[in-house]
Amino acid sequence: MTEKKIIAVAGATGAQGGGVIRAILKDRNGPYAARALTRDPNSDKARKLAGLGAQVVKADLHDAGSVKKAFDGAYGAYCVTFFWNHMSPETELREATNLANAARDAGLKHVIWSTLEDTRKYVPLGDTRMPTLMGKYKVPHFDVKGEADAVFRDSGVPTTYLLASFFWENFIRGGSGPKKDQNGDLVLSLPMANAKLTGIASEDIGRCAYGVFLRGQVLADKHIGLAGDQLTGDEMAQKFSKALGKPVRYNAVPFDVFRGLGFPAAEELGNMFQFYAEFADVLVKSRDVAASRELNPELQSFDQWLSLNKDKLPLE
Ligand SMILES: NC(=O)c1ccc[n+]([C@@H]2O[C@H](COP(=O)([O-])OP(=O)(O)OC[C@H]3O[C@@H](n4cnc5c(N)ncnc54)[C@H](OP(=O)(O)O)[C@@H]3O)[C@@H](O)[C@H]2O)c1
Repeated sequence: MTEKKIIAVAGATGAQGGGVIRAILKDRNGPYAARALTRDPNSDKARKLAGLGAQVVKADLHDAGSVKKAFDGAYGAYCVTFFWNHMSPETELREATNLANAARDAGLKHVIWSTLEDTRKYVPLGDTRMPTLMGKYKVPHFDVKGEADAVFRDSGVPTTYLLASFFWENFIRGGSGPKKDQNGDLVLSLPMANAKLTGIASEDIGRCAYGVFLRGQVLADKHIGLAGDQLTGDEMAQKFSKALGKPVRYNAVPFDVFRGLGFPAAEELGNMFQFYAEFADVLVKSRDVAASRELNPELQSFDQWLSLNKDKLPLE
């Protein structure tokens, strides 16, 4: 039996990385073994991954040496960074740099970098349609990931750039789902105008990433966009109505109103949705559903995701 090649996975106890680990382990006769990076190998989530058959190693993206150690002896790595844990683009860039440098120093043969667009290429800082944030960003968690593409390119490690879409899990945990209005009617309030939102079940990102690793280095240097469905607010509201068995209405929130909601990331997310809405053609084109399904035949549509997850929607 040939020895399996190790894929080291950052964020293994989280949404994207967890999906990668589960996809690798599910393919029992596949060519890869899974190594899960976590800050706490004794956490319940880490123990669960070990129980599934992953090798679990301790690593902190803020400790470059620990990442290098975690990548040693591996064939490839899934690299994702964690903006929402600190909301600092500078810290996120350091995380990406530590991953890319460790991949280079460990001599990895294929890396997937979970990136997003640098929105400043579409909305330059001088464009007043949306405010500039933190002095030099339009959508900090997008822009800095796009900026970090160069760090991976310069590392010389064969890298595939994976563009994620809006996770439908944001409807469960991120506060984006339908909520009851003062009359008790369900309303899906999103600042998406009449544009299509490219969305995906977060578990499918990992499965698509596994499809990329299976195809291998031929996908190096390529940007690959992922989506499970591309739907307008009205279309999503119709699907919520069907799944929940009660009417859900779409309310297109103006971008400025959303930015003014006052919660910590309101401006950042307002800018993000404005980018999603005003550049929907770019996002729809770069995240092809059929191509995502070729990488991952189990790719869920929004209807399928809803049928599995409708009972988890808080609806308030
Ligand atoms: N939500 C969306 O719609 C969306 C769409 C596109 C892209 N994204 C991007 O997705 C990224 C997050 O990915 P995700 O949602 O898969 O993450 P997640 O589910 O929040 O999981 C994060 C995991 O990362 C680990 N982690 C956090 N800080 C770490 C550190 N310093 N060193 C090592 N591990 C650390 C944690 O594991 P341990 O506690 O076990 O160490 C945690 O389980 C964000 O940057 C976001 O911008 C999100």
